[in-house]
Amino acid sequence: MYKSLKHCFIVSALTLTSISSWCQTSNLVGENIAVFYPANFEASGTLPSLIFERDFVSHGKLPSKWKIKPIFSVENGKTTVKIPYDGTIDFYGNGEVTGPLKRNGTDITLWNSDSGAFSVDNGKRLYQSHPYVMGVREDGTAFGIIADNTWKQTFEISNPIKITSQGPEFRVIVIERSSPQELVKTLADLTGKMELPALWTLGYQQSRFSYVPESRVMTIADEFRSRKIPCDVLWMDIDYMDEFKVFTFDPKGFPNPKKLNDYLHSKNFKSVYMIDPGVKTQKGYFVYDQGTAGNHWVKTSEGKEFTGKVWPPITSFPDFTRPETRAWWATLYKDFMATGIDGLWNDMNEPSVFDGPGGTMPETNLHAGGGGLPGDSHLRYHNIYGFLMVKASREGIAKANPEKRPFILSRSNFLGGQKFAATWTGDNVSSWEHLKLSIPMSLTLGLSGQPISGPDIGGFLGNCTPELLGHWMALGAYYPIARNHSVAGSVDQEPWAFGTEIENVSRTAINRRYQLMPYLYTLLREASETGMPMMRPLFFDDIRDQSLREEQQAFLLGKDLLVVPRWAENPNLPKGNWNQFKLEATQDDKYQANLYIKSGAVIPIGEVIQSTADYESEIITYLINPTKKGTAEGTIYYDNGEGFGYKTNDYSMHKINVSKHNSKTLKVAVEQVSGNKKANRTSRVGYVTDDGIVYSDWSADDVIYVPIIEDSTHSIPMGKIR
Ligand code: NOJ
Repeated sequence: MYKSLKHCFIVSALTLTSISSWCQTSNLVGENIAVFYPANFEASGTLPSLIFERDFVSHGKLPSKWKIKPIFSVENGKTTVKIPYDGTIDFYGNGEVTGPLKRNGTDITLWNSDSGAFSVDNGKRLYQSHPYVMGVREDGTAFGIIADNTWKQTFEISNPIKITSQGPEFRVIVIERSSPQELVKTLADLTGKMELPALWTLGYQQSRFSYVPESRVMTIADEFRSRKIPCDVLWMDIDYMDEFKVFTFDPKGFPNPKKLNDYLHSKNFKSVYMIDPGVKTQKGYFVYDQGTAGNHWVKTSEGKEFTGKVWPPITSFPDFTRPETRAWWATLYKDFMATGIDGLWNDMNEPSVFDGPGGTMPETNLHAGGGGLPGDSHLRYHNIYGFLMVKASREGIAKANPEKRPFILSRSNFLGGQKFAATWTGDNVSSWEHLKLSIPMSLTLGLSGQPISGPDIGGFLGNCTPELLGHWMALGAYYPIARNHSVAGSVDQEPWAFGTEIENVSRTAINRRYQLMPYLYTLLREASETGMPMMRPLFFDDIRDQSLREEQQAFLLGKDLLVVPRWAENPNLPKGNWNQFKLEATQDDKYQANLYIKSGAVIPIGEVIQSTADYESEIITYLINPTKKGTAEGTIYYDNGEGFGYKTNDYSMHKINVSKHNSKTLKVAVEQVSGNKKANRTSRVGYVTDDGIVYSDWSADDVIYVPIIEDSTHSIPMGKIR
């Protein structure tokens, strides 16, 4: 329908501003979802949309009471949208950003950039772009605004919100919902959901730029196992390649990747390898020759092959806007993954070009498009270069290993890109500031559609210190993606790098993560089904409690687990009977985060294991924190952890229901509510009380009776960390 929108008379202005709002059009395109088109809308300038899964169908006119209405204009020659609003509204979102969780008063530029130390434009330009903000009113109702275009643009969060694009006029989508949670779910419905990743992606992961040669990788694996520090994944950075040529292996350092991967697998590790988009410009190198033969390279404004410096250093860049190029890129993964690689790390895909303007390629470079996408400039397609790369990469690894769930961690991406790749937040610094910043960064990504993300634990740039690593490991155990990574030349930052004290701190933190695995995996499944992020802001607990709206030290995992970092200063915590508990029997220390379970919640936990290969959901402890009425409930999801059997019901979802049996006893009933998988479960109850967890005996029954512990229902004075 957008093709027929060129009917409005365009106001031609003698001034620099021409307001065309009077003849803009709008439609309802779903329940409380509206699309606004500027008067002189040219579909080919911004559409087809790369954000939305489906095109919109008009459901008729906007109701007259519709509140949020964008006003389109051209100011100083730039496409501008202003969105005024009434009353007090807290804003969130905009994807990958530095600065506070609450975005009021901030401005950012959407132009994906290799922003080491988050320093480009003082942190106002990072690796990803999300032309999306969420407004939350005092009463808890929420709205989302999406600028449906990929061009370079700025977002200013004031009143009005102002979006200024360097491209042509674009449409704006406004979604009204009863709560931010409902909005997050709708965003996932519209932009695509993350498919369930393998269980191992929730394990602890160790990386470095770079572990070389292969014997070093094996030593690191052995260290984890001999020191009994749980770990699931080791990461291979660029130095495994031959002269930084993607899809090759260094014949000296990595002569036999299959053997290395077999070794890692034999010790229950997975391996993830890096692939950058840039291809060494070298005749005779098979990837370059194929790329040239297929006309796959991005072109200069004169139509010549563009080259720029990255690692090899002279590099050509696949034009991922071309369907043929994406299909070709996908084929490259077949032999590569056949060496036993488990996951993929796509880096430098903003794209980063060391000698290009602003660290990327010229805005005037040309992309050919295809499959409905018009050919156009890099200015238009820059922000989705990484998004289209990970789309192609995902297709490639899915085809190479059709039985396995694909996993990609990407530095660059775009709104909706959660369906292709998870996010790590790029080159942070080993500093307290960046440790603290990691929390609002991951929360904001979660509110912007990306349910799983994490920073480099320990910090990437600079040298970590024992104290900082201790605190970062203690916090990092609760990121959706828990990966430690550091730059070449920095001091080691593996858990044991700073001696026994920090090694013990790290082990305790990671042990606790692995104990939480049944709960985390249940959240991962929820994220894949609904788009709800694993890590959530505290205001999700009580959307009307204004005191929670800016809290960015403490956070929620799911809805029932509250994580308060040990260093948090006067956090604003939710009211109600949250009970503190300690997960592991080992000695506590001054680094571990404080954990609280919500009143009325059941959190399923498992045992300490060395990797998810030993994950046994059949042996489960249900942590309960009953309400004063003696009620609580929770769920536990279980499947093979890998493969697609879960799509044909080879999984189990159990509901745990706690109720008062009589004045002295609680009844804990476990019932399978969906899936065909049988779990011969041995379970027990862990009753969270003020004096510690009181365990019942193990039982193979579906019903366990436990005595009521009166003291456990005491209200914990939240706001005071014990
Ligand atoms: C930049 C990435 O952000 C970093 O994580 C990686 O180690 C280096 N590139 C080298 O590949």
